Amino acid sequence: MPGVRILWLAGFMVLAVACKDSSVTGQDPETMEEYTALRSVASFPVGVALQSNRLNLAPHSEITRTVFNSVTAEYEMKMRHLTDPSGNYIWTRADQLTAFAKEYEMQVHGHTLVWHQSTPLWLENFNGTDVEFEGVVQTYITDVIHRYKDDIISWDVINEAFEDGSGALRNSIFRRRMGSDYMARLFQYARSADPNALLFYNDYGTIWDVKKRDSMLAMIDDFQARGIPIDGVGLQMHITYNTPPLSDIIAVMDAIVQRGLKIHISEMDVRVNPQGDLSQLTNARSELQKKRVNEIVAAFMDLPEGSRFAITWWGLRDPESWLIDFWGNPEWPLLFDSGYRPKPAYEGFLEALITN
Ligand code: G3I
Repeated sequence: MPGVRILWLAGFMVLAVACKDSSVTGQDPETMEEYTALRSVASFPVGVALQSNRLNLAPHSEITRTVFNSVTAEYEMKMRHLTDPSGNYIWTRADQLTAFAKEYEMQVHGHTLVWHQSTPLWLENFNGTDVEFEGVVQTYITDVIHRYKDDIISWDVINEAFEDGSGALRNSIFRRRMGSDYMARLFQYARSADPNALLFYNDYGTIWDVKKRDSMLAMIDDFQARGIPIDGVGLQMHITYNTPPLSDIIAVMDAIVQRGLKIHISEMDVRVNPQGDLSQLTNARSELQKKRVNEIVAAFMDLPEGSRFAITWWGLRDPESWLIDFWGNPEWPLLFDSGYRPKPAYEGFLEALITN
């Protein structure tokens, strides 16, 4: 099992990772690689998606709590996982995540109150009236936010509400039973539950999918015109080593900043094998990933300080990425390799933090 040592050098928190996983490096001797923790040098929170079952893996939890100062539950704070089949709350795993974050002075971003892909059956099959349905949703939002009021500073109120390509409002159960203006009321319920929590809209594709992007921006303009509370946008940033163009990323970030909202790069991963042409990660593709990470973090650093909410990676180690099952290709999209070693992409992140 790889070992991790945490050092302090010149005021920076430095990690030393002893990796003796010959299956990965082909090396026998234990190598101690020292590197600076991102949270030591970043002027904004740097986060990682976390699952409670990984807190028991020593290197995983040590690197998570040392390198990062923000966590997002990868799935355990979603409605389907916070409730049992009868709709009763199951707080255990979410409590473990917030306790871990509190112990190591990490902020927690709440993901996500409402998502059509994580709606539990008990709600899908709810046989009350539409008004009663909305009451159940409002109560859920209020109960969850109240429980974590002292632990969670921000919430994705709703995730992925617009269709790909058309930008139309998804015809989810929430839209069907609460009406087309349901999102405004979700944000109002969240604000009522915790006036101090930052409220985000989170989505993917709002960089390259023009119709989806424009629908999101129109929603923000409408909310702001009507005094509906919204504080920020989550750009998930599930991208590849060469798409979308940096100029498109900067353009949508600028549009959000112009509206006075914060930006959370909320689920970052950088695919290096989108065409499936690699069976192993090559140095060349790894260097392109490093360059990609560096240019995006540099662009984020160029934003006004008040607009920079956080950059969150959607997983710690390559083998843990959701992308592998989702696309069915070998993939190495994250900052750490299977042996918990920081990759060139990590160096790219660090260099952007230090040189910008
Ligand atoms: O860990 C449990 C395991 O104990 C259990 O036996 C098994 C079968 O029930 O489930 C396992 O949990 C699964 C979990 O991933 C860990 O693998 C959940 O069922 C499964 O739903 C969960 O999928 C997550 C997915 O969202 C749905 O919640 C992925 O981890 C997560 O990466 C993915 O993240 C989404 C964002 O929330 C929104 N943006 C897109 C992104 C990728 O789909």
